[in-house]
Amino acid sequence: MTKVWDGFIRGFHWLLVLGLAVLYVSGEEGWMDLHFVVAYLMLALFITRLIWGGIGSQTARLSSLFHRPQAVIAAVKGDDKRYGHNAAGSYMVLLFFVLIAIQLVSGLMSTDDILVEGPLVSLVPASWVELAGDIHHETVEILIAAIVLHIAAIVIYRLRGKNLVKTLLTGKAPEQPQTAQPVMRSGWPAYVIFVVLAGLLLLTWGAAPLKALFA
Ligand code: HEM
Ligand code: HEM
Repeated sequence: MTKVWDGFIRGFHWLLVLGLAVLYVSGEEGWMDLHFVVAYLMLALFITRLIWGGIGSQTARLSSLFHRPQAVIAAVKGDDKRYGHNAAGSYMVLLFFVLIAIQLVSGLMSTDDILVEGPLVSLVPASWVELAGDIHHETVEILIAAIVLHIAAIVIYRLRGKNLVKTLLTGKAPEQPQTAQPVMRSGWPAYVIFVVLAGLLLLTWGAAPLKALFA
């Protein structure tokens, strides 16, 4: 077996799934203190993932997510010997990153018009706030469609004999004799970055909702 996912990528994925679930439910239910606190944790997690995309393991690099169309077609046909995300999966990952970024930025400029407003609401024109609210509402639907597609792709790979979930849980993939081993890094520096960013965000923008949540 070959190590393909470092500890941060594995943790990032399942924290992302958990965080998005909490954000979806709290957003829909109007539990805004919880929504804001988890949103700042998500912002810290996402920024950390982008930083890790610059300095992390080879399979975590953002630069490894761009491929030629021929490689995408080959990957869909199942003809792909690379470690880490294949060419088709890479574009799925990029789509997730774009959607999550849109969701986070629009949230920072959104208000429920009653009790709470994102920290950027007072800094941008009112027309942006209105647009951000619409975007925040609509992007969720696209995100859900992308998640359905993502899970369907994982199931299809499983039926074809590739257990990607096991690889994401253990970090280890079956050996590909003709392919060079990926350069791997320990994931702990990323967790340090995450904790520092989360701490900073919770002490600043997050202080009021955090206090309200535990009041
Ligand atoms: C909220 C729902 C989900 C979102 C937003 C999501 C998002 C993502 C993202 C962004 C990645 C790339 C990881 C990275 O490089 O940082 C990824 C990979 C992966 N996800 Fe998910 N995921 C979700 C749910 C699931 C579920 C429920 C499963 C299992 C059934 C799953 C299985 C996987 C697997 C196996 C990979 C690795 C794919 C590969 O080998 O290239 N995901 N997911
Ligand atoms: C990926 C991260 C996020 C997800 C998945 C998410 C999801 C949601 C959902 C599903 C709703 C309900 C939408 C509706 O009923 O129209 C909502 C509302 C809201 N979210 Fe987020 N959100 C995220 C990030 C943020 C951030 C970073 C902030 C601000 C710090 C934020 C602030 C708000 C506000 C103020 C509302 C109420 C909007 C309204 O009542 O029209 N969200 N969010």
